[in-house]
Amino acid sequence: MTDVTMDKIVSLCRRRGFVFPSSEIYGGIGSTFDYGHYGVLMKNNIRNEWLRAMVQERDDIVVLDSAVIQNPAVWVASGHVVNFSDPLVDCRTCKLRFRADKLEDSQCGRRPSVHPGEFRECDLTEARQFNLMFQTQVGAMEDAASTAYLRPETAQGIFINFKNVAQLARRKPPFGIAQTGKSFRNEITPGNFLFRVREFEQMEMEFFVPPADAPRWYEYWIEQRLAWHVGLGLRSENLRVREHGVEERSHYSSATSDIEFRYPIGWQELEGVANRGDFDLSQHTEHSGTKLEWIEQDGTRYVPYVIEPAVSIERIFVAMLCDAYHEEVVAERDRTVLRLHPAIAPVKAAILPLIPRSGDMVTRSRALLDDLRARWFVEYDDGGQIGRRYRRQDEIGTPWAFTIDEQTLEDETVTVRDRDSLAQERLPLSGVAAWLEDALRRPWAPPAP
Ligand code: GAP
Repeated sequence: MTDVTMDKIVSLCRRRGFVFPSSEIYGGIGSTFDYGHYGVLMKNNIRNEWLRAMVQERDDIVVLDSAVIQNPAVWVASGHVVNFSDPLVDCRTCKLRFRADKLEDSQCGRRPSVHPGEFRECDLTEARQFNLMFQTQVGAMEDAASTAYLRPETAQGIFINFKNVAQLARRKPPFGIAQTGKSFRNEITPGNFLFRVREFEQMEMEFFVPPADAPRWYEYWIEQRLAWHVGLGLRSENLRVREHGVEERSHYSSATSDIEFRYPIGWQELEGVANRGDFDLSQHTEHSGTKLEWIEQDGTRYVPYVIEPAVSIERIFVAMLCDAYHEEVVAERDRTVLRLHPAIAPVKAAILPLIPRSGDMVTRSRALLDDLRARWFVEYDDGGQIGRRYRRQDEIGTPWAFTIDEQTLEDETVTVRDRDSLAQERLPLSGVAAWLEDALRRPWAPPAP
């Protein structure tokens, strides 16, 4: 990832219809984005791969879909009303607001003055705590009693359903509940494209374990999640695990490790794995009066500890794009290619009639398209020179392109071109679906940069 910048990623996303600035025709709304066709497909693939690893391929985790707006008492019990805040300072010189703990990342104090080469002194107010939860009103009455919050994490929806899922269905720890869905945070300084946004899709799993087993499961989930990212194409050298110091931990955590990725802006948190202990279940028991605990057959009771891997699709999306982005010169022409893992690539294959005016080529191409699209997102592309079509597919990360040409009309074979190696081979038209199925099952690792 030598010369990948966030600007290049933003520009490709926009050019190729992955991601657009939101509300653009009204001047935008800072750090808020809308996803176009390829962005939606790629997000779906990330979510599906997470659900596959967390739920589909295991028998100890189930899924949940809880509400975004919950009883405000949830956020009092969880500690978010009091503790979910960042220190905020205003700069009287720049007239901007910053996170006091991230001042070194900001431009504050580095604004040029009217004298060349000089910088204006920043003049900061005292830091005060700013709660990151978005407030809203529920119902027609606008009074304090109707104030509610947009959830800042999906996790609490899981804890308040512990009784429904665990106790009633008698799921014995260790077991987990997984959830994907939107979370909202009124970040003081959102930015760096999708890295820090105010509206994002979290994928969280709360794994309930007997207290004595918590350290072992904590290590287990760090390893599992690291392996998941590598398995989906992130290069090991761009990933590392960093354990939080005591002062850095969230109010609910007794141990946290970040899986960090080397983004173009430096090493940053991609995913967090936390040991939340019995904090949440105990808090909700105390505040709701409903006992959230596990009762063994012999009547012994305990409050399970919770190990939580938590990540947003946005952070994975950016990491995968940065890791996959590659510029090179092939046959004296520039090529930009997204070497995405085939499972993550928005489009699995392109179908290209070499001569779009040829009725026979179009008929065969369309038949192949109908065959493949029953199972995968594939794309029919007949616009422009074949080389340009290859380049377009390279830029959106399509792993394979099938070209229907004169030879197809003679012997019913097609050319398949590999995005990464650029190798081409011929295979029978009738065998394309089976070939693609097999190719998508093969292990894939990123080519050497
Ligand atoms: N339930 C625990 C929790 O929410 P967190 O570290 O605040 O912990 C978990 O968030 C993950 O959510 C982060 O590792 C990151 O992937 C993602 N995330 C948090 N804030 C985000 C933001 N403003 N924009 C994009 N992703 C964010």
